[in-house]
Amino acid sequence: MKILVTGGNGYIGSHTCVELLNNGYEVVILDNFSNSKKENLAKIKEITNKDFKFYEGNMLDRSILDTIFTENKIDAVIDFAAYKAVGESVLKPVEYYTNNISTVLVLLSAMKDYNVKKLVFSSSATVYGDPEVIPITEECKTGGTTNPYGTSKLFVEQILKDLYNSDNTFDIAILRYFNPIGAHESGIIGEEPNGIPANLLPYVCKVASGKLECLSIFGNDYDTKDGTGVRDYIHVVDLAIGHIKALEKLNKEQHGLFIYNLATGTGYSVLDIVNAFEKVNGVKVNYKIVGRRAGDIATCYSNPTKAKEELGFIATRTLEDMCRDAWNYEQKNR
Ligand code: WQD
Repeated sequence: MKILVTGGNGYIGSHTCVELLNNGYEVVILDNFSNSKKENLAKIKEITNKDFKFYEGNMLDRSILDTIFTENKIDAVIDFAAYKAVGESVLKPVEYYTNNISTVLVLLSAMKDYNVKKLVFSSSATVYGDPEVIPITEECKTGGTTNPYGTSKLFVEQILKDLYNSDNTFDIAILRYFNPIGAHESGIIGEEPNGIPANLLPYVCKVASGKLECLSIFGNDYDTKDGTGVRDYIHVVDLAIGHIKALEKLNKEQHGLFIYNLATGTGYSVLDIVNAFEKVNGVKVNYKIVGRRAGDIATCYSNPTKAKEELGFIATRTLEDMCRDAWNYEQKNR
Protein backbone atom coordinates (compact mmCIF):
# COMPACT_ATOMS: atom_id res chain seq x y z
CA MET A 1 0.00 0.00 0.00
CA LYS A 2 1.17 3.53 -0.83
CA ILE A 3 0.42 6.16 1.81
CA LEU A 4 0.53 9.93 1.33
CA VAL A 5 1.72 11.47 4.61
CA THR A 6 1.12 15.22 4.71
CA GLY A 7 3.36 16.93 7.26
CA GLY A 8 5.36 13.72 7.22
CA ASN A 9 8.64 15.49 8.00
CA GLY A 10 7.36 16.82 11.34
CA TYR A 11 7.66 15.41 14.85
CA ILE A 12 4.76 12.92 14.82
CA GLY A 13 4.80 12.60 11.03
CA SER A 14 8.43 11.48 10.85
CA HIS A 15 7.99 8.92 13.63
CA THR A 16 4.90 7.59 11.82
CA CYS A 17 6.78 7.38 8.50
CA VAL A 18 9.45 5.28 10.24
CA GLU A 19 6.78 2.86 11.46
CA LEU A 20 5.06 2.80 8.05
CA LEU A 21 8.31 2.00 6.23
CA ASN A 22 9.28 -0.60 8.82
CA ASN A 23 5.87 -2.23 8.31
CA GLY A 24 6.29 -2.52 4.56
CA TYR A 25 4.19 0.44 3.44
CA GLU A 26 5.31 2.66 0.56
CA VAL A 27 5.44 6.30 1.68
CA VAL A 28 5.02 9.62 -0.11
CA ILE A 29 5.73 12.69 2.05
CA LEU A 30 4.38 16.18 1.41
CA ASP A 31 5.83 18.88 3.65
CA ASN A 32 6.61 22.61 3.47
CA PHE A 33 9.15 22.60 6.35
CA SER A 34 7.07 25.18 8.25
CA ASN A 35 7.75 23.37 11.53
CA SER A 36 10.52 20.88 10.74
CA LYS A 37 14.06 20.74 9.46
CA LYS A 38 14.94 19.38 5.99
CA GLU A 39 17.52 16.98 7.46
CA ASN A 40 14.71 14.96 9.03
CA LEU A 41 14.10 13.36 5.63
CA ALA A 42 17.58 11.83 5.56
CA LYS A 43 17.15 10.72 9.18
CA ILE A 44 14.00 8.75 8.31
CA LYS A 45 16.04 6.95 5.63
CA GLU A 46 18.93 6.43 8.06
CA ILE A 47 16.70 4.74 10.63
CA THR A 48 14.74 2.55 8.20
CA ASN A 49 17.28 2.08 5.41
CA LYS A 50 14.25 2.54 3.14
CA ASP A 51 13.54 5.15 0.50
CA PHE A 52 10.37 7.13 -0.12
CA LYS A 53 9.16 9.91 -2.40
CA PHE A 54 9.12 13.51 -1.18
CA TYR A 55 7.30 16.58 -2.46
CA GLU A 56 7.88 20.05 -1.03
CA GLY A 57 4.80 22.21 -0.93
CA ASN A 58 1.70 23.42 0.87
CA MET A 59 -1.69 21.74 0.50
CA LEU A 60 -3.26 25.15 -0.11
CA ASP A 61 -1.71 24.75 -3.56
CA ARG A 62 -4.01 22.25 -5.27
CA SER A 63 -1.51 21.76 -8.08
CA ILE A 64 0.94 19.99 -5.75
CA LEU A 65 -1.78 17.49 -4.87
CA ASP A 66 -2.64 17.01 -8.56
CA THR A 67 1.01 16.22 -9.19
CA ILE A 68 1.21 13.76 -6.31
CA PHE A 69 -2.04 11.93 -7.14
CA THR A 70 -1.15 11.83 -10.85
CA GLU A 71 2.37 10.51 -10.29
CA ASN A 72 1.47 8.05 -7.53
CA LYS A 73 -1.32 5.57 -6.97
CA ILE A 74 -2.18 6.64 -3.43
CA ASP A 75 -4.19 4.12 -1.39
CA ALA A 76 -4.66 6.22 1.76
CA VAL A 77 -3.73 9.58 3.27
CA ILE A 78 -2.51 10.39 6.78
CA ASP A 79 -2.94 14.14 7.34
CA PHE A 80 -0.58 15.65 9.93
CA ALA A 81 -0.10 19.00 8.20
CA ALA A 82 -1.21 21.62 10.74
CA TYR A 83 0.06 24.22 13.17
CA LYS A 84 -0.29 22.95 16.74
CA ALA A 85 0.88 25.47 19.34
CA VAL A 86 -2.06 26.30 21.60
CA GLY A 87 -0.67 29.62 22.84
CA GLU A 88 0.42 30.74 19.36
CA SER A 89 -3.03 29.96 17.97
CA VAL A 90 -4.57 32.53 20.34
CA LEU A 91 -2.29 35.19 18.83
CA LYS A 92 -2.67 34.04 15.18
CA PRO A 93 -6.21 32.70 14.70
CA VAL A 94 -6.48 33.50 10.98
CA GLU A 95 -3.20 31.73 10.21
CA TYR A 96 -4.36 28.71 12.23
CA TYR A 97 -7.79 28.50 10.61
CA THR A 98 -6.30 28.93 7.15
CA ASN A 99 -3.57 26.37 7.62
CA ASN A 100 -5.51 23.84 9.67
CA ILE A 101 -8.88 23.97 7.90
CA SER A 102 -8.47 25.29 4.34
CA THR A 103 -5.70 22.80 3.61
CA VAL A 104 -8.00 19.92 4.58
CA LEU A 105 -10.74 21.21 2.26
CA VAL A 106 -8.27 21.26 -0.66
CA LEU A 107 -7.04 17.79 0.28
CA LEU A 108 -10.54 16.30 0.51
CA SER A 109 -11.50 17.80 -2.84
CA ALA A 110 -8.43 16.24 -4.46
CA MET A 111 -9.07 12.89 -2.78
CA LYS A 112 -12.60 12.83 -4.19
CA ASP A 113 -11.34 13.74 -7.67
CA TYR A 114 -8.75 10.95 -7.63
CA ASN A 115 -11.03 8.47 -5.86
CA VAL A 116 -8.77 8.15 -2.83
CA LYS A 117 -11.21 7.38 -0.02
CA LYS A 118 -9.15 6.36 3.02
CA LEU A 119 -8.07 9.08 5.46
CA VAL A 120 -6.45 9.05 8.90
CA PHE A 121 -6.79 12.52 10.43
CA SER A 122 -4.58 13.95 13.15
CA SER A 123 -6.94 15.46 15.70
CA SER A 124 -6.47 16.41 19.33
CA ALA A 125 -7.76 16.01 22.87
CA THR A 126 -8.18 19.77 22.84
CA VAL A 127 -11.52 19.21 21.02
CA TYR A 128 -12.93 18.19 24.44
CA GLY A 129 -12.40 21.72 25.78
CA ASP A 130 -12.34 21.69 29.58
CA PRO A 131 -13.64 18.12 30.00
CA GLU A 132 -16.70 17.59 32.20
CA VAL A 133 -15.84 13.93 32.74
CA ILE A 134 -12.42 12.41 33.56
CA PRO A 135 -11.13 10.01 32.27
CA ILE A 136 -12.29 11.12 28.82
CA THR A 137 -13.94 8.69 26.42
CA GLU A 138 -14.72 9.32 22.76
CA GLU A 139 -18.39 9.68 23.71
CA CYS A 140 -17.63 12.71 25.89
CA LYS A 141 -18.95 16.05 24.75
CA THR A 142 -16.69 18.01 22.43
CA GLY A 143 -16.74 21.77 22.05
CA GLY A 144 -16.14 24.65 24.40
CA THR A 145 -12.60 24.67 23.00
CA THR A 146 -10.35 27.20 24.73
CA ASN A 147 -8.13 28.17 21.79
CA PRO A 148 -8.19 28.44 17.96
CA TYR A 149 -5.97 25.37 17.59
CA GLY A 150 -8.52 23.16 19.34
CA THR A 151 -11.37 24.88 17.52
CA SER A 152 -9.69 24.26 14.15
CA LYS A 153 -9.48 20.55 14.94
CA LEU A 154 -13.11 20.55 16.06
CA PHE A 155 -14.19 22.21 12.80
CA VAL A 156 -12.31 19.67 10.69
CA GLU A 157 -13.87 16.80 12.62
CA GLN A 158 -17.28 18.25 11.75
CA ILE A 159 -16.26 18.61 8.09
CA LEU A 160 -15.21 14.95 8.02
CA LYS A 161 -18.50 13.84 9.60
CA ASP A 162 -20.46 15.88 7.03
CA LEU A 163 -18.33 14.47 4.21
CA TYR A 164 -18.92 10.90 5.38
CA ASN A 165 -22.67 11.53 5.67
CA SER A 166 -22.66 12.79 2.07
CA ASP A 167 -20.50 9.98 0.73
CA ASN A 168 -20.17 6.85 2.83
CA THR A 169 -17.69 5.25 0.48
CA PHE A 170 -15.08 7.14 2.51
CA ASP A 171 -13.19 5.37 5.29
CA ILE A 172 -12.11 7.90 7.91
CA ALA A 173 -10.25 7.48 11.21
CA ILE A 174 -10.10 10.54 13.47
CA LEU A 175 -7.31 10.14 16.02
CA ARG A 176 -7.41 12.43 19.08
CA TYR A 177 -3.91 12.77 20.50
CA PHE A 178 -3.34 13.56 24.14
CA ASN A 179 0.22 14.67 24.96
CA PRO A 180 2.80 13.13 22.63
CA ILE A 181 6.37 13.23 24.02
CA GLY A 182 9.66 11.36 23.74
CA ALA A 183 11.69 10.33 20.71
CA HIS A 184 12.72 7.34 18.64
CA GLU A 185 15.02 5.07 20.68
CA SER A 186 17.86 5.71 18.23
CA GLY A 187 17.94 9.38 19.21
CA ILE A 188 18.17 10.19 15.51
CA ILE A 189 14.75 11.85 15.33
CA GLY A 190 12.81 13.59 18.08
CA GLU A 191 10.90 16.72 19.02
CA GLU A 192 12.69 19.78 17.64
CA PRO A 193 10.31 22.75 17.85
CA ASN A 194 11.42 25.95 16.16
CA GLY A 195 12.44 28.56 18.75
CA ILE A 196 11.59 28.38 22.46
CA PRO A 197 9.54 25.22 23.17
CA ALA A 198 5.91 25.84 24.09
CA ASN A 199 5.42 22.31 25.42
CA LEU A 200 6.62 20.90 28.71
CA LEU A 201 9.05 18.10 27.92
CA PRO A 202 11.08 19.80 25.20
CA TYR A 203 11.42 22.77 27.57
CA VAL A 204 12.57 20.45 30.38
CA CYS A 205 15.18 18.97 28.02
CA LYS A 206 16.56 22.42 27.18
CA VAL A 207 16.81 23.34 30.89
CA ALA A 208 18.56 20.03 31.70
CA SER A 209 21.05 20.62 28.89
CA GLY A 210 21.70 24.20 30.01
CA LYS A 211 20.30 25.80 26.87
CA LEU A 212 17.52 27.38 28.95
CA GLU A 213 17.95 28.58 32.50
CA CYS A 214 14.84 27.57 34.37
CA LEU A 215 11.49 25.88 33.80
CA SER A 216 8.44 27.97 34.70
CA ILE A 217 5.72 25.75 36.07
CA PHE A 218 2.44 27.39 35.13
CA GLY A 219 0.54 27.27 38.39
CA ASN A 220 0.47 24.93 41.39
CA ASP A 221 -2.99 25.89 42.57
CA TYR A 222 -5.04 23.54 40.39
CA ASP A 223 -7.34 20.98 41.99
CA THR A 224 -4.86 18.14 41.43
CA LYS A 225 -2.74 15.96 43.73
CA ASP A 226 0.13 18.45 43.84
CA GLY A 227 -1.55 21.52 42.37
CA THR A 228 0.18 21.30 38.98
CA GLY A 229 -1.49 20.41 35.67
CA VAL A 230 -2.20 16.75 34.93
CA ARG A 231 -1.97 15.35 31.39
CA ASP A 232 -1.99 11.99 29.59
CA TYR A 233 1.50 11.70 28.11
CA ILE A 234 1.98 9.13 25.34
CA HIS A 235 5.28 8.08 23.78
CA VAL A 236 5.48 9.37 20.21
CA VAL A 237 6.44 5.90 18.92
CA ASP A 238 3.32 4.40 20.55
CA LEU A 239 1.35 7.18 18.90
CA ALA A 240 2.93 6.36 15.53
CA ILE A 241 2.02 2.70 15.96
CA GLY A 242 -1.55 3.81 16.66
CA HIS A 243 -1.65 5.19 13.11
CA ILE A 244 -0.63 1.82 11.68
CA LYS A 245 -3.44 0.20 13.67
CA ALA A 246 -5.90 2.80 12.34
CA LEU A 247 -4.81 2.12 8.74
CA GLU A 248 -5.29 -1.60 9.31
CA LYS A 249 -8.79 -0.87 10.59
CA LEU A 250 -9.66 1.15 7.48
CA ASN A 251 -8.35 -1.64 5.29
CA LYS A 252 -10.48 -4.23 7.09
CA GLU A 253 -13.76 -2.36 7.43
CA GLN A 254 -16.29 -1.86 4.67
CA HIS A 255 -16.49 1.91 5.05
CA GLY A 256 -17.04 3.95 8.18
CA LEU A 257 -16.00 6.96 10.23
CA PHE A 258 -14.16 6.01 13.43
CA ILE A 259 -12.97 8.18 16.31
CA TYR A 260 -10.26 7.12 18.80
CA ASN A 261 -8.37 8.65 21.71
CA LEU A 262 -4.69 7.74 21.46
CA ALA A 263 -3.41 7.87 25.04
CA THR A 264 -2.20 5.75 27.96
CA GLY A 265 -5.09 6.33 30.40
CA THR A 266 -2.67 7.55 33.07
CA GLY A 267 -2.45 11.18 34.14
CA TYR A 268 0.86 12.68 35.31
CA SER A 269 1.36 16.11 36.86
CA VAL A 270 4.02 18.57 35.81
CA LEU A 271 5.99 17.75 38.97
CA ASP A 272 5.66 14.01 38.20
CA ILE A 273 7.29 14.69 34.83
CA VAL A 274 10.10 16.79 36.31
CA ASN A 275 10.82 14.25 39.05
CA ALA A 276 10.75 11.28 36.65
CA PHE A 277 13.01 13.08 34.17
CA GLU A 278 15.57 13.91 36.89
CA LYS A 279 15.51 10.38 38.30
CA VAL A 280 15.76 8.50 35.00
CA ASN A 281 18.48 10.69 33.54
CA GLY A 282 20.42 11.69 36.66
CA VAL A 283 20.09 15.37 35.86
CA LYS A 284 18.75 18.45 37.65
CA VAL A 285 15.91 20.52 36.28
CA ASN A 286 15.73 24.01 37.78
CA TYR A 287 12.19 25.29 38.05
CA LYS A 288 10.06 28.00 39.61
CA ILE A 289 6.34 28.20 40.16
CA VAL A 290 4.68 31.07 38.27
CA GLY A 291 1.08 32.02 37.44
CA ARG A 292 -1.27 29.90 35.36
CA ARG A 293 -0.99 29.97 31.52
CA ALA A 294 -4.08 31.32 29.74
CA GLY A 295 -6.13 28.52 28.15
CA ASP A 296 -4.71 25.78 30.36
CA ILE A 297 -7.00 23.30 32.08
CA ALA A 298 -6.31 21.42 35.31
CA THR A 299 -6.69 17.79 34.29
CA CYS A 300 -6.93 15.90 31.02
CA TYR A 301 -6.43 12.18 30.61
CA SER A 302 -8.16 9.46 28.65
CA ASN A 303 -9.98 6.17 28.98
CA PRO A 304 -8.15 4.30 26.19
CA THR A 305 -10.52 1.29 26.10
CA LYS A 306 -12.10 1.94 22.70
CA ALA A 307 -8.78 1.98 20.80
CA LYS A 308 -7.75 -1.18 22.62
CA GLU A 309 -10.98 -3.01 21.80
CA GLU A 310 -11.42 -1.80 18.21
CA LEU A 311 -7.84 -1.25 17.03
CA GLY A 312 -5.97 -3.62 19.29
CA PHE A 313 -3.95 -0.54 20.28
CA ILE A 314 -2.23 -0.32 23.68
CA ALA A 315 0.46 2.24 24.52
CA THR A 316 3.27 0.16 26.03
CA ARG A 317 6.09 2.66 26.62
CA THR A 318 6.39 3.99 30.17
CA LEU A 319 6.94 7.49 31.51
CA GLU A 320 10.54 6.45 32.16
CA ASP A 321 10.91 5.42 28.50
CA MET A 322 9.51 8.78 27.41
CA CYS A 323 11.91 10.73 29.64
CA ARG A 324 14.91 8.59 28.70
CA ASP A 325 14.28 8.77 24.96
CA ALA A 326 13.64 12.51 25.03
CA TRP A 327 16.94 13.10 26.89
CA ASN A 328 18.80 10.72 24.57
CA TYR A 329 17.62 12.76 21.58
CA GLU A 330 18.55 16.03 23.28
CA GLN A 331 22.07 14.79 24.02
CA LYS A 332 22.63 13.48 20.49
CA ASN A 333 21.38 16.65 18.86
CA ARG A 334 22.83 19.41 21.04
C1 WQD B 1 1.49 20.36 29.62
C2 WQD B 1 1.47 20.80 31.08
C3 WQD B 1 1.23 23.18 31.34
C4 WQD B 1 5.10 24.19 29.55
C5 WQD B 1 -0.34 20.09 24.19
C6 WQD B 1 -0.30 20.70 22.83
C7 WQD B 1 -1.58 20.50 22.07
C8 WQD B 1 -2.08 19.08 22.19
C9 WQD B 1 -2.08 18.59 23.63
C10 WQD B 1 -1.79 17.72 20.25
C11 WQD B 1 0.43 21.88 31.35
C12 WQD B 1 2.58 22.72 31.86
C13 WQD B 1 4.01 23.49 30.01
C14 WQD B 1 5.91 24.93 30.47
C15 WQD B 1 4.48 24.22 32.25
N1 WQD B 1 -1.30 18.22 21.39
N2 WQD B 1 3.72 23.51 31.34
N3 WQD B 1 5.57 24.92 31.79
O1 WQD B 1 -0.97 22.43 26.95
O2 WQD B 1 -1.47 19.97 27.41
O3 WQD B 1 -1.17 20.83 25.05
O4 WQD B 1 -0.77 18.77 24.14
O5 WQD B 1 -2.83 17.95 19.78
O6 WQD B 1 -1.28 20.79 20.72
O7 WQD B 1 -0.08 22.09 22.98
O8 WQD B 1 0.79 20.62 26.61
O9 WQD B 1 3.18 20.52 27.13
O10 WQD B 1 2.14 22.79 26.72
O11 WQD B 1 1.59 21.53 28.82
O12 WQD B 1 4.19 24.23 33.47
O13 WQD B 1 6.91 25.59 30.11
O14 WQD B 1 2.73 21.39 31.39
O15 WQD B 1 0.65 24.17 32.18
O16 WQD B 1 -0.10 21.66 32.67
P1 WQD B 1 -0.78 21.00 26.59
P2 WQD B 1 2.00 21.41 27.27
